[in-house]
Amino acid sequence: MKVVTILGSPRKNGTSARIAKAFTEKMQENGAEVENFYLNALSYKGCQACERCHTKLDHCVLEDELTPALDAMRTADVTVFSSPIYFGDVSGQFKQFFDRTWSHVHVDYTSDSPFTSRIPKGKTALFILSQGDVEGKHAEIAERYQSILGLYGYDLKIIRATGLMSGRPDEDVSSFQAEAIKIAEGLMGA
Ligand SMILES: Cc1cc2nc3c(=O)[nH]c(=O)nc-3n(C[C@H](O)[C@H](O)[C@H](O)COP(=O)(O)O)c2cc1C
Repeated sequence: MKVVTILGSPRKNGTSARIAKAFTEKMQENGAEVENFYLNALSYKGCQACERCHTKLDHCVLEDELTPALDAMRTADVTVFSSPIYFGDVSGQFKQFFDRTWSHVHVDYTSDSPFTSRIPKGKTALFILSQGDVEGKHAEIAERYQSILGLYGYDLKIIRATGLMSGRPDEDVSSFQAEAIKIAEGLMGA
C-alpha cells in the first residue's frame, strides 16, 4: 500500500504533522510505503486558471516542485492532507496546493454530471485539520473539504484536532494520534 502525505503547516513538528506521523508510522509498521511532501519547503505557484488541464491536458500544465506531489496523489492508495486553521481557513500553503488539484477533475459542462475524477476509484483520504479553538468552531471548513474530496471520489476520513492553541512543540496531541492510529489499523485490517 502506498501512502502520500501533503503537510500544510509550516511547523514541521507541529500538531497536524505529528498526528499525520502517528498515522504513517502505523501504516509503515504494517508494510505500507510512505512519501511525505512538506509544502512549506516546496516552491510552487497557485492555480493560474488557464484551464489547460481541462482543454488540452489531463494534468496541470505548471511544472514546479508541487508536480511530484500532484502526480503521487494519483498512484497513492491513501493520501493524507493536513493543515492548521489560519483565520478560519486552511493555511495559505495548503490552499495554494489545493487549488492546483483542480487538475484532478475532468470538467464537461455539457453533461448532466460534469465532474469526473481523474483520481482512480477506490482511494482513501485522511484530512487532519488542527485548530486552537474549541470543537464547535470551524466545523464548516471540514464540511467544505468533505464535499470537494467526495467529488474527487475519495473514501474520506477526517480528524479535527481542536483546542491546540499553545504553539508549543510538545503540545499534547495523543488523543488525536490515537484516532489516527485507529484509522490506520482499520485500513490495514490490523
Ligand atoms: C496565523 C495564524 C492564524 C490562526 N488562526 C486561527 C483561527 O482562525 N482559528 C483557530 O482555531 N486557530 C487559529 N490559529 C491556531 C492554529 O490553528 C493552531 O495552533 C493549530 O493547532 C496549529 O497547527 P500546527 O501545529 O499543525 O501548525 C492560528 C494560528 C496562526 C499562526
